[in-house]
Amino acid sequence: MGVQEQYPFDVEAVRADFPILDRLVGGDPESPGEGPGDDTPLVYLDSAATSQTPDPVVDTIVDYYRGYNANVHRGIHQLSQEASVAYEEAHDTVADFIGASGREEIVFTKNTTEAMNLVAYAWGLEELGPGDNVVLSQMEHHASLVTWQQIGKRTGADVRFIEVTDEGRLDMEHAAELIDDDTQMVSVVHVSNTLGTINPISELADLAHDHDAYVFADGAQSVPTRPVDVDDLGVDFLAFSGHKMCGPTGIGALYGREEILDEVQPYLYGGDMIRRVSFTDSTWEDLPWKFEAGTPSIAQGIAFAAAIEYLEEIGMQNVQAHEDLLAEYAYDELTDLGGVEIYGPPGNDRGGLVAFNVEGVHAHDLSSILNDYGVAIRAGDHCTQPLHDELGVAASARASFYLYNTVEEIDALVEAVGEARDLFA
Ligand SMILES: Cc1ncc(COP(=O)(O)O)c(C=O)c1O
Repeated sequence: MGVQEQYPFDVEAVRADFPILDRLVGGDPESPGEGPGDDTPLVYLDSAATSQTPDPVVDTIVDYYRGYNANVHRGIHQLSQEASVAYEEAHDTVADFIGASGREEIVFTKNTTEAMNLVAYAWGLEELGPGDNVVLSQMEHHASLVTWQQIGKRTGADVRFIEVTDEGRLDMEHAAELIDDDTQMVSVVHVSNTLGTINPISELADLAHDHDAYVFADGAQSVPTRPVDVDDLGVDFLAFSGHKMCGPTGIGALYGREEILDEVQPYLYGGDMIRRVSFTDSTWEDLPWKFEAGTPSIAQGIAFAAAIEYLEEIGMQNVQAHEDLLAEYAYDELTDLGGVEIYGPPGNDRGGLVAFNVEGVHAHDLSSILNDYGVAIRAGDHCTQPLHDELGVAASARASFYLYNTVEEIDALVEAVGEARDLFA
């Protein structure tokens, strides 16, 4: 059976919702690759950085601005009420999507990065001190790594890193050594944006909870691509970004267990997050609004919910099955090409992305040549510089796949990578 016949849903029908995928891109005559030139079909393989946005989500934004644009929580006029209901209900949609108990557990943020900073500042600065430790892994994105590193410096808490094995997995024996009674937080990426590793979050959560530590999963790459349930994972916090899951930029979410969020003091102060203010003191709104100071990203929040509804229509099991299919195909094809080093676990056990280097070709040159072929990938350190140090490379190329990508697009990638390899041979 051909790989296309194993697609878990009608990929062409999905692609029709993303008109951007039909656009042509022009080759750059100045670039060393001298690809086929102008008017090349776009092959978008950079969804781990930012996914494309389907028409129903774009329409939701347009409908909001055309129909009921107004500030939330502040007005008793009809537009404000309509906007408030839609914005608040968007929290319910996000809560349901990840198995949270309700909107109280969902704080809208700008993105994953802001969600992590919220916990690090609001909880970490208050609770951490000398003698405490925070356990991360060597494969953390800078959003987590830099945040906890700097909070560690400010509080005197030790920041520790679980080692990554040669196969790109977490060394769980090392994790068990690092997590101890002084551990206050274990913050680990669920699916690595560089290695594609799917980390055993629930196992880490058990370890952490045995020592009364909290667990924070970075869901930036997992929530968009597979079913994620906070109870199944056993996490206390989870962060993710709308723009990586068919939603707009400027919106993301922090999930936090209600009893923890209840105790934590706000991180941003101002309008909307207060209940009563005097010249000398203030009291806070209920969850989650106590953490959403000022005018929020209203259109983006409502569109975030529309993106989730779009994904749910396809089914997250199906999205994952499609990712699995493409990841394995890409892994095998790139391996067969020769001269390609792929980082992370095997093709049949990873998220929908492949980071790699081609012998003798710098990742930036590779990306630039691929651009001539219309193939959009990412090159650089993917915000995991220390992990790249461990891998012994300064940069890598990364192709990432989503529900609208096809086997033919991976063939285009592999062909262009082969051309680049031969060019530099
Ligand atoms: C694993 C991981 N964590 C965090 C982030 C940060 O996401 P954002 O830039 O949306 O805050 C990313 C984005 O690339 C990511 O891949």
